Formats: sequence, structure tokens, C-alpha cells
Amino acid sequence: MNGKILILDFGSQYTQLIARRVRELGVFSEIRPYRYELKKILAEEPAGIILSGGPASTTAPGAPRVDKRLFAAGIPILGICYGMQLLARMLGGRVVRSAQREYGMSRLRLQAASTLLEGVSDGSTVWMSHGDSVAALAPGFAITARSDDGAIAAAEDRARRLFAVQFHPEVVHSREGKKVLANFLFAVCGARRTWSMKNFVAEETAQLRERCRGKRVVLGVSGGVDSTTLAVLAQKALGNGVTSIFVNNGLLRLDEETEVLHSLRRRLGLKVSYVDASRRFLAALKGVTAPERKRKIIGRTFIDVFYRGLKDFDFLVQGTLYPDVIESNPVQGPSQTIKTHHNRVREVQRLERQGRIIEPFRFLFKDEVRQVARLLGVPADILQRHPFPGPGLAVRVLGAVTAAKLAVLKQADAIFISELKRSGWYDKVWQAFAVLLPVRSVGVMGDERAYGQVVALRAVTSSDGMTADRADLPPQVLDAAANRIIRQVRQVNRVVYDVTSKPPATIEWE
Ligand code: XMP
Repeated sequence: MNGKILILDFGSQYTQLIARRVRELGVFSEIRPYRYELKKILAEEPAGIILSGGPASTTAPGAPRVDKRLFAAGIPILGICYGMQLLARMLGGRVVRSAQREYGMSRLRLQAASTLLEGVSDGSTVWMSHGDSVAALAPGFAITARSDDGAIAAAEDRARRLFAVQFHPEVVHSREGKKVLANFLFAVCGARRTWSMKNFVAEETAQLRERCRGKRVVLGVSGGVDSTTLAVLAQKALGNGVTSIFVNNGLLRLDEETEVLHSLRRRLGLKVSYVDASRRFLAALKGVTAPERKRKIIGRTFIDVFYRGLKDFDFLVQGTLYPDVIESNPVQGPSQTIKTHHNRVREVQRLERQGRIIEPFRFLFKDEVRQVARLLGVPADILQRHPFPGPGLAVRVLGAVTAAKLAVLKQADAIFISELKRSGWYDKVWQAFAVLLPVRSVGVMGDERAYGQVVALRAVTSSDGMTADRADLPPQVLDAAANRIIRQVRQVNRVVYDVTSKPPATIEWE
């Protein structure tokens, strides 16, 4: 799509946030590593380019840079933080290591009329996070704002349409950051607001029809937001040519397979083929205690059951999201790929070479998928379901997984979740669940000494799962859940609440 905004990534933790903010303003944006070749950039005909922040110092030998000819290509550029320092350094200004790092809130002191800061108030709060600063701007640039401590906070060379900010407009703590980005997109780049989920649904539906009409299409569905939305979109575009496959790995929550099948078939009218592989997964996991081995076994078994079981189809539709696409092409180069996504296992790569993989959500962020879901009429209770890990309850039964332990955990988990729903807390937390610990503890039940199992409850708040805080559930809610678990799940005589944040702990226990 030409007319988009390209974001060149120097490794900032906020790069994806920049892309999301630009899209929230109605303009399509994509992220490329900073090394992306100039001729490729030009071929994409972007309306503007944003240089992201990054952890490096422009003063260090071998620091990441761009091709200098980019600055003379006539495309408007906005440098953020490292991006600002790079503009200064490569165009003849001076960057210095600051005596101390500026981190946190600061305020803008406007210095001169500015296209980028048009409408932004003097004293506006901004978020800073940098070690180096620009001591002297490159020729042609004027200072448009300083920060509280006198550092250059914003600058522009209007003739060349080069703009720079030391603060992070993409972070919500920069109160008027969105206005700054909007000024860049509309006043500087002349971008058009063509990116909306309504347009997206219309275009993807048309493309699916053009490519797959009359063909046999399959997709995997778990009942989660992404795969359900994908199945609804595919069915809307292709009708009965689509079969959704739901694999029961035996590691689902209480009655989940029945509920998911009911939702998909009855409420959404999808054609779903059900594969019960629970025995096979449990057999493969028998006696295995190491968390990583459990995950590997589950991943491998899923591939065997799902991909190798596929037959008589032309296309496989997958719910790969944009962050997965970016992560498989990291800033540091291919050698730094952190994980091979399960959407890229060997079976999928083979199909991809044959042109048989379709990924309609490859450009979407999670919140955009939720908007698509709403547009397609996916019911709110499906939309608001908590995330659930692929390896399911296997990473919540600590140690070896058995059918008996799964049964105990399922009951305890269902009671906790029902208490959260009853008290209105379910929708306030990112995720909540029970964990079955591999220890026993002494208790008294009635007049008898009991030696029973221990369940840990975990509930966290988070915006993306990368960091999380424990949810401060009211004692009454915890009491109600704990009492019911002890009363109704015979094997359990002790319930504890996990109070740890992430980091240092992870959300899951294994
Ligand atoms: P952690 O435990 O790493 O979890 O803090 C972060 C988020 O990811 C989910 N999670 C997984 N999801 N496959 C998944 O699809 C996995 O192997 C997996 N492990 C963790 C977890 O539930 C939380 O939402």
C-alpha cells in the first residue's frame, strides 16, 4: 500500500507502539529493520518515515545508521529519540553523552512556531528516556522546544521536511503526543485516513474470494479471539468451502470443548470438524516433569495431529499476527530470532513454498483483531475471554500430568473463574487461573487429619502480557473461591494466592 508510513526500527521497546498510534490515527504503518535497503524503501512509496528510538548510542563505533541518501529523497522524516540523534549526527550536528540519564516526565518549553508542534500547549507533559542528547543541531534545523532542563526537545528543518523529537510522542505519558504524530502525518506528510477495520474487512473478504473461491480451505480454531475471528471472516468470504478444525488436546479447561464447539457451531454457524486427541497427548506426556519438555512434546504432538492429519484441501488459513511477523525479522538480524513461531514449522514452510498458506491478519495488532471481531459480530463473551496458553493446563499441573490431576485442577479453576465472574472481577483482570502444586500439606477437615493437595490462585493485570502485576482481589472474593474449592474439590485442603509480579515471576508457573 503506498501512502503508508514506514517506521525504521532501531530496537526501541516502543517501536510497535509507534505503529499502533499511527494506525489509530487512520494511517497504515509498517515496521522495517533500520537496515532495510534504500531502494526498497523508495519502491514502497511511503508518505513519510519515522526513525524509532533505540538502545544504542550514535556516538559508539558501528552504531546503527541509515543510508544517508534517505535524507535527500524528499520523503518527510520524523526522528524520535535515537532517531533525532541520528539526524543530528549524520547531517552535521553534535551528539553528546549526558552526565545523567533523563528518564521520566518532563515539560515542553516552546521556542518557536512549529509545524510539528502546532496546537501543542506550552508546558505540555512529555515522556523522556535517553542517555545521549543533541548538543548542536545540523545546519538548517531550528529548535522548536526545549525540555525543563534546557535540553533540545524538538527541532525541525521545514525546507527539507525533517523533524525530530527527543521525547516519545507514542507513549501515553506524553499528554499531547498523539497531536504531534497527527501533525506529522497530516500537516507534513499529507497522509490520508484510509486505514480502518471496516475497509480491512471489505478488502480481505474480496481478496479471499478472489483467491479461494471454489477451493477447499481449512483452518485451525481454538475458541480464542484470533482464530474464532479468522474462522468467521473466512466463512463470511467463502461460505461452506471452509472447514474449521478444533483439536481437543485434553488440556482444556472444564467443559471447554463442549462450550467452544457450541459457540462455534450453534452461535456462529461455523462448519467445525472436531478431533479428540486427548488420549494421545496424555500418553505422550506420561511421566514427563520438565516444563520445557512438556511444551516440546505438546508442540510436536499438535503438529502430528493437525498438520499431518490435513488432507484434501487447497489452502490453509492461519491467524498469524503482525507482532509474530516482526519478531521473525528482528532488528539485530536473522541470527537473533528469539523463537520459531509454531505458524512456521516445517509443514507450514512446505505449504508456503507451494503458495497454499493464507494469513489475513499478518498486518494486524491484537487490538485491531478485536475491532474486526466486533465488526463481524463475534459475541462479547468470546471477545473478552482471557488468554490461554497453547500447552493449556499442562503448564498449570506442575510436574507430571495425569488425568486425575487434570480433573482436580479443572474443578478448582472453574470455581475460581465463576467467583470472578460473579463479583465482576473477570473483566477487570488480564488473566486468572488456578495451578495445582506438586506438594501435599496437612490440614484438619471435620475431626480428621487430612493430607491433601494445594491449589494456587493467580490473577494478574497487564496490558500485553509482557509485564504484569498481581490483581488486588478483595478478600471476600478470595475467601469465596477458596471456601468453595475446599468444600467441593475433595482432594484439595489448602488454597494460596500468588502475589508476585512479572518480572520477576512469569504469569504461568511453568
Ligand atoms: P508468561 O508465563 O510467559 O506468559 O508470563 C505470558 C502470556 O503468554 C501466555 N503463554 C503462552 N501462550 N503458548 C501460548 O500460546 C505458550 O507456550 C505460552 N506460555 C505462556 C500466558 O498465558 C500469558 O498470557
